[in-house]
Amino acid sequence: MKICCIGAGYVGGPTMAMIALKCHDITVTVVDMNAARIAAWNSGTLPIFEPGLDDVVKQARGRNLFFSTDVAGQIKQADIIFVAVNTPTKTYGVGAGRAADLRYIESVARTIAEHAETGKIIVEKSTIPVKTADAIKTIVASNSKGLKFSVLSNPEFLAEGTAVADLLNPDRVLIGGERTPEGEKAMATLAGVYARWVPRDRIITTNLWSSELSKLVANAFLAQRISSINSISALCEATGADVDEVANAIGKDSRIGPKFLKSSVGFGGSCFQKDILNLTYLCESFGLPEVAAYWTSVVGINDWQKQRFAARIVKELFNTVADKKIAVLGFAFKKDTNDTRESAAINVVRDLLAEHAKVSVYDPKVPAEEIRRDVLGKPSTGSGQEATDNPRLTVAKDAYEACAGAHAIAIVTEWDEFKTLDYAKIFAGMPKPACLFDGRNIVDLAALRKIGFKASGIGKPPGGRREGDVA
Ligand SMILES: NC(=O)c1ccc[n+]([C@@H]2O[C@H](COP(=O)([O-])OP(=O)(O)OC[C@H]3O[C@@H](n4cnc5c(N)ncnc54)[C@H](O)[C@@H]3O)[C@@H](O)[C@H]2O)c1
Repeated sequence: MKICCIGAGYVGGPTMAMIALKCHDITVTVVDMNAARIAAWNSGTLPIFEPGLDDVVKQARGRNLFFSTDVAGQIKQADIIFVAVNTPTKTYGVGAGRAADLRYIESVARTIAEHAETGKIIVEKSTIPVKTADAIKTIVASNSKGLKFSVLSNPEFLAEGTAVADLLNPDRVLIGGERTPEGEKAMATLAGVYARWVPRDRIITTNLWSSELSKLVANAFLAQRISSINSISALCEATGADVDEVANAIGKDSRIGPKFLKSSVGFGGSCFQKDILNLTYLCESFGLPEVAAYWTSVVGINDWQKQRFAARIVKELFNTVADKKIAVLGFAFKKDTNDTRESAAINVVRDLLAEHAKVSVYDPKVPAEEIRRDVLGKPSTGSGQEATDNPRLTVAKDAYEACAGAHAIAIVTEWDEFKTLDYAKIFAGMPKPACLFDGRNIVDLAALRKIGFKASGIGKPPGGRREGDVA
């Protein structure tokens, strides 16, 4: 069997590497039109950072895992074609700011119709609006060779930062297809691939629309949990309750459960916001404005949480951060990834720069030029210009350099190394009062206060005093 995956990104690369690792007899080729990305997949430095991924790729690459820019050639050879291209939020025309931009999906469908010489199973791996399979089917069916294609939906549930573990041991694999003999056969073929390492009872089959919708709904529910606890974090700060204690207390209820109740500066990543906006756009398109409004509020609370964090820094620093140095620790949207898409850090840094702070950012995995591009904006293609510069933004080589001489430290990503910094040494090098704002609740605020920091967390009682505390 030959598998081709179109799109060598955060999903296509790791997912295909795992299939190749587990199925020695299947040849897996990941193709992309981005030649630099393919070159990186073929090099010693992979284009994405994921714990454990280097090892998986090293084992399979050159054996039955290949990365190539020959999209047409690999389409011809493949029995199964995965489509894992990006489906960003549309930035123009009808649905701008909410609907999914399906131009990459459509272009792939057209390329398959043009180059395929035999019928194939086409698998939607990308997250797409419900009914996209219809569009793909119509486009590939219009091929001039009379070929028959089966279209399946197989959304990916991996989380960046834990992608390898998630792929190795998924909670479930979801496969949606048409309930026709051909559809059932295609679903059985794909299920047979996963069944090499995933227990059969975790491979779920549904109709196409349930599968497409389930991915959007899963992300909406996950994001909703974060916005729910984040909304409560504000109430905790106002009342003296501690959000981690509240989360622990409610999480013990088996109907609620303990996971995804960690309050923070707000969720980021390429998926949550995009997929909720996509869901709300769908709801409105189907005449359900009340449902759309309900889910829109999840994104609204997240935007507010990010603003609230930056505003709190300004307020605590006597309502002005102009010309004060602020160290921002972490820039990736979460730990253990180099992905910065929709990272809360972008908003926080921009808000602080707007207040004329001098911001020094440090992240262990995100390169300086990426940080500058994300904050300052990309120059328009072909303009030949650099991103507009802002001398107030600097990127430090480590946390100590970022914090040296800073009036305040803001922890924005929960990288483990920020838990064990020598905060006494850092404190000694800061003007006083020295403030620390923990946007991830990862450091010991009481210990920092002992050193002398004015330290605060998300949803934590101010100054660490709580009603009921023993003096
Ligand atoms: N990143 C995640 O954690 C995650 C998790 C689950 C699902 N998803 C979904 O998976 C899809 C892919 O996400 P990603 O994060 O891997 O995106 P990505 O941007 O990292 O990768 C997409 C790749 O597709 C390539 N591409 C686009 N059009 C192409 C074409 N016509 N021919 C060849 N290559 C083409 C791009 O060059 C890019 O390298 C999205 O729909 C996303 O919503 C992402």
